[in-house]
Amino acid sequence: MTKPKLLITGGSGYVGSFTVRRLQDKYEILVVDNLIYGHRQAIPDVPLTELDLSNYNQLETVIKDFKPQAVIHFAAYIQAGESVANPAKYFLNNVGGSLNLLNAMVSAGVKNIVFSSSAAVYGISQVNPIPEKNPTQPINPYGESKLMVEKILKWYSQAYGLNYIALRYFNACGAELDGSFGEDHRPETHIIPLLIKSVLEDKPFTIFGNDYRTADGTCIRDYISVLDLASVHQRALEALFEGQKNKIYNCGTGQGYSNLEIVKSLEKVIKKPVKYVFGPRRPGDPDVLIAGVDKIAKELNWKAAHSDIESVLSSAWKWHSTHPQGYSD
Ligand SMILES: NC(=O)c1ccc[n+]([C@@H]2O[C@H](COP(=O)([O-])OP(=O)(O)OC[C@H]3O[C@@H](n4cnc5c(N)ncnc54)[C@H](O)[C@@H]3O)[C@@H](O)[C@H]2O)c1
Repeated sequence: MTKPKLLITGGSGYVGSFTVRRLQDKYEILVVDNLIYGHRQAIPDVPLTELDLSNYNQLETVIKDFKPQAVIHFAAYIQAGESVANPAKYFLNNVGGSLNLLNAMVSAGVKNIVFSSSAAVYGISQVNPIPEKNPTQPINPYGESKLMVEKILKWYSQAYGLNYIALRYFNACGAELDGSFGEDHRPETHIIPLLIKSVLEDKPFTIFGNDYRTADGTCIRDYISVLDLASVHQRALEALFEGQKNKIYNCGTGQGYSNLEIVKSLEKVIKKPVKYVFGPRRPGDPDVLIAGVDKIAKELNWKAAHSDIESVLSSAWKWHSTHPQGYSD
């Protein structure tokens, strides 16, 4: 039986590679990635075309030749802080690259797309958990770039019959349970890898700010395992093929952990104390960000199953302690 074809942009990055490995048995996959931040080693045995989304002509040729039934679009720059200093970089790549992709899909007659959006579209929310219908007021160009693509998708669906599901991830985290694959962002800006790295190097970990409006004063976030993100992409694709379309869903657990709780949970997992200090706040960090998860549970019949914080930390610990330099490519 021939497998349906998927073109996956950014498929050698963190979330993309977990999704590619999960889907590779069911689908014929072609990854498109410029490898600026991705790692070939993260997706052994999957064909990869090294290509930047800014190259419209080549992208259109690749899509027309491969003829995928659907596209999953992970490729983007992801550092919110950098986007404030260099918005041009983010709008060019995240919006410009997405426009090239969508135009090439329209030109090739490819109708279905799952798009990696972000909780960053909400900015500082007045309510938590945050429902999808919450106002979207990004506080950095990264979040704005994701919101702009969501809006472009809406107009492209009306004009060109494109079917989309946009997934607003909260904090992606964790590794394969056996530690064989994991997170390798360079530079790393996420709390769990930074915390584990500081323990492995026997340095104190800096928590950014302890005067937030939360019980222990540190920021609260919703941590979703990369294994769950891989499964939600599978579910979203199935939903598109079943005829659901033009939807936006939060991807989280509906539960938040403070930075301090993450440190304390890691202590439990590794059974030793972790040294930490409090540093100044990072600009633009909301006090609390927790996903409202009712809509995705009801409409996609999906909920997180691998995001228990201790199993996330245990898998991340296994990955980082066995791969202190990350992937070797
Ligand atoms: N990691 C998170 O916590 C998180 C949270 C919310 C949303 N997201 C979104 O999920 C997606 C994946 O995030 P990630 O953490 O896996 O990031 P990542 O940096 O690990 O992966 C992104 C991949 O896209 C590739 N890429 C970037 N620009 C490209 C271009 N112009 N052409 C071709 N390839 C390009 C990179 O080389 C990399 O492999 C992103 O769109 C991100 O905005 C991530």
